[in-house]
Amino acid sequence: MVAPAMPTVRDATPDDLPAVKAIYDEQVAHGIATFDTTAPPLDHWRDRLDSPGHLLVAVEDTTVVGYAFSSTFRPRAAYDRTQEVSVYLDARARGRGLGRALYDVLLARLRDDGIHTVLAVVALPNDASEALHRGCGFERVGVLPEVGHKLGRWIDTALYARVLDDGLT
Ligand SMILES: CC(C)(COP(=O)(O)OP(=O)(O)OC[C@H]1O[C@@H](n2cnc3c(N)ncnc32)[C@H](O)[C@@H]1OP(=O)(O)O)[C@@H](O)C(=O)NCCC(=O)NCCS
Repeated sequence: MVAPAMPTVRDATPDDLPAVKAIYDEQVAHGIATFDTTAPPLDHWRDRLDSPGHLLVAVEDTTVVGYAFSSTFRPRAAYDRTQEVSVYLDARARGRGLGRALYDVLLARLRDDGIHTVLAVVALPNDASEALHRGCGFERVGVLPEVGHKLGRWIDTALYARVLDDGLT
């Protein structure tokens, strides 16, 4: 058997968006990582690509197997140096370090942009996502109880925060 090529992380292009959408839509339908319950149209992803913030993809051979993005946390000016991040992988690509690879590039970009604080919201339970965020230097700073209702149950979310100027790499 031929081992897959080392994954690369790069900026998304318009051609990547159907694959990005497919990865997200699987969680819309079957997971709690997103609280969307209807798959957003491809235009949603085109708008994200055109918006400020980074949209990165992880590519194995020529296949997009995951993505991560950064976006505005809140629109008011004093929040300008805070960004929210998120990361999704195809089920077959999980547990092999690709989430970490995407975040390493994304956090370096945000540091270069002068971003001070990065936030992430993790719907619970999600051991892999909590481990990923802890491993990338995020701290769990709070839990919002039962703010989501999906797949027949109430869902808590954990808020994770990383101050980029904290001296960690
Ligand atoms: C969450 C997700 C992005 C993690 O990415 P990943 O590539 O699977 O994670 P990695 O292989 O980079 O591992 C990161 C850390 O999590 C740990 N980990 C991975 N899967 C785990 C699991 N199922 N349970 C516990 N820890 C796990 C790894 O050991 C590693 O820990 P370390 O830094 O201490 O070595 C991925 O599982 C995924 O896409 N899940 C579905 C969508 C989702 O939940 N997105 C997050 C929204 S907040």
